[in-house]
Amino acid sequence: MTRKYVVRPETAVLTRGFDPSLSVGSARPAVFRSSTYVFNSPESAAHAFEVALGKVKSKPGESLDLIYARISHPNAEILEDQIVPLETGATGAAVFNSGMAAISTTFLALCPPGSTVVHTSPLYGGTQLFLDAVLTPLGVKAVEVDAGDTQALVAAIAAAKNLKVVFVETPANPTLRMSDLRAAVAAAKAHPDHPLVVVDNTFLGPTFQHPLALGVDLLVYSATKYLAGFSDLLAGVVLSGNDELVASLRGLRGVLGNILQADECWLLSSRLATVPLRMNKQSKNAQRIAESLVGHPAIAAIHYPSLFTDPEQCRIRDSQCDFPGAIITLELKGGRDAAFTFLRTLQIAHNAVSLGGVESLACHPRTTTHSELSPEQLDRAGITDGMVRLSVGIENWQDLLMDYRAALEKV
Ligand SMILES: Cc1ncc(COP(=O)(O)O)c(C=O)c1O
Repeated sequence: MTRKYVVRPETAVLTRGFDPSLSVGSARPAVFRSSTYVFNSPESAAHAFEVALGKVKSKPGESLDLIYARISHPNAEILEDQIVPLETGATGAAVFNSGMAAISTTFLALCPPGSTVVHTSPLYGGTQLFLDAVLTPLGVKAVEVDAGDTQALVAAIAAAKNLKVVFVETPANPTLRMSDLRAAVAAAKAHPDHPLVVVDNTFLGPTFQHPLALGVDLLVYSATKYLAGFSDLLAGVVLSGNDELVASLRGLRGVLGNILQADECWLLSSRLATVPLRMNKQSKNAQRIAESLVGHPAIAAIHYPSLFTDPEQCRIRDSQCDFPGAIITLELKGGRDAAFTFLRTLQIAHNAVSLGGVESLACHPRTTTHSELSPEQLDRAGITDGMVRLSVGIENWQDLLMDYRAALEKV
């Protein structure tokens, strides 16, 4: 359906990408569970395969036959259309069956053997494990830079040979250290290899941080987190303003077989309209809680964007983030014992990994989400024994604060 006027993202997310006449008039999309699709003719089947394999380009507005659900399916196409307006600067998206599927497919597509990746550290433990256990043995060199060290990031990019990807996770999981995206983009543009800048935008996107508008090439998401929002499905998304790049990732997705299935696409589509509402409420709750915990005698440090004191971190925050988000990382004074006691005592927040859902969660990164890292990597990244990561939900913030304070009393 073509609309006569341009609408804002909150409207577009509810009105684009879905034609009720293709779902027998249903106001919400049907779930198309078919694994295979009937061709209009053998000729249109041959053409659909040529386009899917990149042998010919589709014409603008051309309607292609669907082929097979591993390559694409109607619910993936609807979701990919609907998610685009949420991300400033995006023109296309590809959906995957987890955040790690989106991340690993991106690296495999962009980094041939012999190439180099420059990345910030820490990274989510699964991403670090993928680099160490899969990409490095394939002959890709990974160069690590401390998150937030702008000079070191620029220098590492300038010095790298056969550089294909600059991968930035900001804020970093779980330390919340931020890296300067404009500096990464400028250094990548100045590099003779023209590497792509890829950002894991899971922690603040798509509502509070807009890297594509700063010149970043590609975003990866664990859509399991804020996008899905209810801790009940796994999904991953890549978004870009470069449609050819998105098409090439869809191509590799078809080979690897890691597309998001129809039911999950349908569920995730229905969650998109409330992403900004949920994220705003969660961020407001977290900010009130973090700022109320300042000075608590059991806490050695609170890592939370509105409480940054380091001038470089404050500068990066102010230049690229709109609001602080819903993740608070506490460092407790009593080390691992204190952290475990805190987690055991919580009554409202559950002790579970993952984040971004409407229900509050808390975990001990050193022994869970980042346990893939060696003790040296953990120490270098500042992921300490006393660290707990809180993901704040949409419960009443005063109830949550009471729960955290009661657990801190036991520490
Ligand atoms: C920042 C970040 N990126 C990627 C992932 C991986 O996503 P998934 O668990 O959906 O595969 C996670 C998971 O916790 C994450 O926190």
